Amino acid sequence: MSRTSDPRLIVALDTPTTDEAWAITEAIGDAVSFYKIGLQLLPVGGMALGKRLKQAGKDVFLDFKLHDIPATVEKATRSITTGGADLLTVHAEPPVMRAAVAGRDDSPLRILGVTVLTSYDDAMLAEMGYAFGARDLVLRRVEQALECGVDGVVASAHEAAAIRQRFGDGFLIVTPGIRPAGAETGDQKRVATPASALGQGATHLVIGRPVNAAQDPAAAARAIVAEMAGIPPVAA
Ligand code: C5P
Repeated sequence: MSRTSDPRLIVALDTPTTDEAWAITEAIGDAVSFYKIGLQLLPVGGMALGKRLKQAGKDVFLDFKLHDIPATVEKATRSITTGGADLLTVHAEPPVMRAAVAGRDDSPLRILGVTVLTSYDDAMLAEMGYAFGARDLVLRRVEQALECGVDGVVASAHEAAAIRQRFGDGFLIVTPGIRPAGAETGDQKRVATPASALGQGATHLVIGRPVNAAQDPAAAARAIVAEMAGIPPVAA
């Protein structure tokens, strides 16, 4: 018998308004238990939407990618804990990550480091003054993330295997850029299927358009859950 939902599936609510986001969650029903709210919804009621989803029994990932001086990151993270969310992203620079870990204190909020934005390639990193290319910088920042005590990282499925090989299990790897076999890739360049991303060491998959732009979002989510069911979870 297939499971109704899989806690490793996170559906991105990338909509202009919270009403549209809520309508998607209602259309999906119990096929999804975890939702991501990002910067598009933050200024128009994203925090309140997160609280409402928590009250409805869902898990909530706030993808706000904090990046500021340590005192501000610590205070922002402390404010964010009041919403009851489960996951928060910050840029994977050691002072930022340490501040976020201090700010979440003993709340259940888990912190994820965003290693290198996937919109950057080696040439752009060199132009910005970085000595490392993207792949080496990702591995360096995962090492620093683990030293700083964050709970995991955001990384592409293609980076996940190298990260697990170097650093083992015991932390979260959350991977966007997932497309079920045969789905439109849209603007995502380096995509992986749900099964291959999990097989490479991801603990969670972030999936947006393949679910929320589907004719039947609940059916699309159930098909992904069925594909994930064959892959055992990574110890994290
Ligand atoms: O629609 P799609 O599945 O491409 O959505 C992926 C989600 O993951 C979006 O919310 C996007 O902003 C986010 N994301 C990403 N790549 C990253 C980090 C976040 O696609 N490197």
